Amino acid sequence: MLPPLRIGQHVSETPVVLAPMAGVTNTAFRRLCREQGDGFFVAEMVTSRALVERNDVSLRIVSFEDYEQPRSAQVYGVDPATVGAAVSIIAGEDRADHIDLNFGCPVPKVTRKGGGAALPWKKELYTRIVDAAVRAASPHHVPVTVKMRMGIDDDHMTYLEAGKIAEDLGVSAVALHARTAAQHYSGQARWDAIKNLKEHVTTIPVLGNGDIWSAEDALNMVAHTGCDGVVVGRGCQGRPWLFADLTAAFAGRDERVTPGLGYVAETIYRHGEYLVEFFGDEGRGLRDLRKHMAWYLKGYAVGGEARQALALVDSLADLRRKLDELDHDAPYPGEAAEGQRGRAGSPKRPILPYGWLDSRELSDEFRITLQEAELSVSGG
Ligand SMILES: Cc1cc2nc3c(=O)[nH]c(=O)nc-3n(C[C@H](O)[C@H](O)[C@H](O)COP(=O)(O)O)c2cc1C
Repeated sequence: MLPPLRIGQHVSETPVVLAPMAGVTNTAFRRLCREQGDGFFVAEMVTSRALVERNDVSLRIVSFEDYEQPRSAQVYGVDPATVGAAVSIIAGEDRADHIDLNFGCPVPKVTRKGGGAALPWKKELYTRIVDAAVRAASPHHVPVTVKMRMGIDDDHMTYLEAGKIAEDLGVSAVALHARTAAQHYSGQARWDAIKNLKEHVTTIPVLGNGDIWSAEDALNMVAHTGCDGVVVGRGCQGRPWLFADLTAAFAGRDERVTPGLGYVAETIYRHGEYLVEFFGDEGRGLRDLRKHMAWYLKGYAVGGEARQALALVDSLADLRRKLDELDHDAPYPGEAAEGQRGRAGSPKRPILPYGWLDSRELSDEFRITLQEAELSVSGG
């Protein structure tokens, strides 16, 4: 199949990464995924500025349990000095073993200021940010990786150049979400771009990301692109057992998890318990669990009323009661539980600062706008 995936000194026998997802990949969800299979499991992103200001929520996001080895954090930032300082905090204070940099966020409130997927267009700035991160991390032997999109839109592609720059600066792997910012989460990921990147970046692992809904999709992506590993996001929402399938598939085994409703209900309950533990607050943990319900129940024979009730759970006892009312003997529904899930939507014209595309250099005017691109970010 594929050799183990190496990110710096860290090795996973299964060449799979749980994609960082804001609001999803906290310790609780990572734990459920790790229980199922191998890989790197990346925490939700933190913004460099919040980390440098030692914001409590950000510090909690980059806290890991003892069993989490290696610990993968993700940083988003727009300023080389601040990103360097954030990486120094994480690496220097031994808060993580691997740091991923996020250059893929397509949301208008971020790209409007020149951040996220708009940033690699400013080639020198991108270079300085990646360089600052690698320099801050390397004394602590913490590998840095880069995660990006193909570019802003089809006329403004940045991924080949950004991948090469990262490779030259000493980054340990690059991951490509094979969509442009303009595509958001719509349409299909363009795996050909992953193949192009793999041909362009030759000395470090190239990881493919986008539209892996099953272990078969992961194998197909590897066959199609020659990539060294896959990054899985929405496909495991409400389906942490996808990691068991991926581990089996990359080991050449055919077995797949096809859970009946009883197994799903037990997983939901455990997820609830882990979230309560993570937040240290029962109400908060259960409120967070609500958004996962539709993902867990996709395709299962559960009526509208029961779904609605589960989307309003407010305590573990309430959760147990409502789960007990489900038909635990209901079998795996097959195709109805598979395929696309989570965020989708339609293409959107990227909103950029006025004149952003006119030059690859960063003018002073944009320098100021860019600072605001880090103020209200929530994922990629
Ligand atoms: C809810 C949600 C939150 C996300 N948050 C982040 C994030 O914090 N950092 C990041 O680099 N990408 C983020 N992403 C993008 C994913 O990491 C991934 O690149 C994208 O979903 C495509 O992969 P998929 O088709 O396997 O879902 C997020 C995606 C979703 C759906």
